[in-house]
Amino acid sequence: MTSQSSRRAFLSATVASFVWLVTGDRASAATPAISAGAPCKVKGRERTVDGVTFVCRTAKGKLVWRRTPGEATSKVTTVRALESADLELGKTKVVDVPAPNGGLTGVVLTRTEAGITALRVNCTHAGFPVARVGNILECELHGSQFEPTTGAVLNGPATRPLVRYEATETNGGIYVTVTSA
Ligand code: FES
Repeated sequence: MTSQSSRRAFLSATVASFVWLVTGDRASAATPAISAGAPCKVKGRERTVDGVTFVCRTAKGKLVWRRTPGEATSKVTTVRALESADLELGKTKVVDVPAPNGGLTGVVLTRTEAGITALRVNCTHAGFPVARVGNILECELHGSQFEPTTGAVLNGPATRPLVRYEATETNGGIYVTVTSA
């Protein structure tokens, strides 16, 4: 074989390899779109298709794409809980307001010089409703005590503060924004 013909052979092999690489890439790009249950190769790999995120997981001994669980969405509702005139400075009132998921939820409203505080009425120990006793909120079931303007725990057994809601006052009314989560 002459050196010219070997150069030609080398060039043609190189071109063939190049063509194979290009078409090979096209072939892989044309593989079926990711969908739930379709096979995947690398455990834990994530891909997002049209806003849906899939993760490669093991199912029945095979690696398959699975949708990632959707993010929990909390519902929110804002309601006129009380007339402004019905909550004097330094006082606390418990009102029931419509909950975002239906039914009613109790809210403790307290007015101080700093404004109005709205707290979920349920004690964070075991859910019993709290009530104002003197200058604090108290749960009579096991004796937990809370600070009415912040919901902070003053005495256990509760260890977490009361859930706080946003409270605003406008047009002669007190509005509370209640969340379901
Ligand atoms: S439920 Fe309130 S202290 Fe236990």
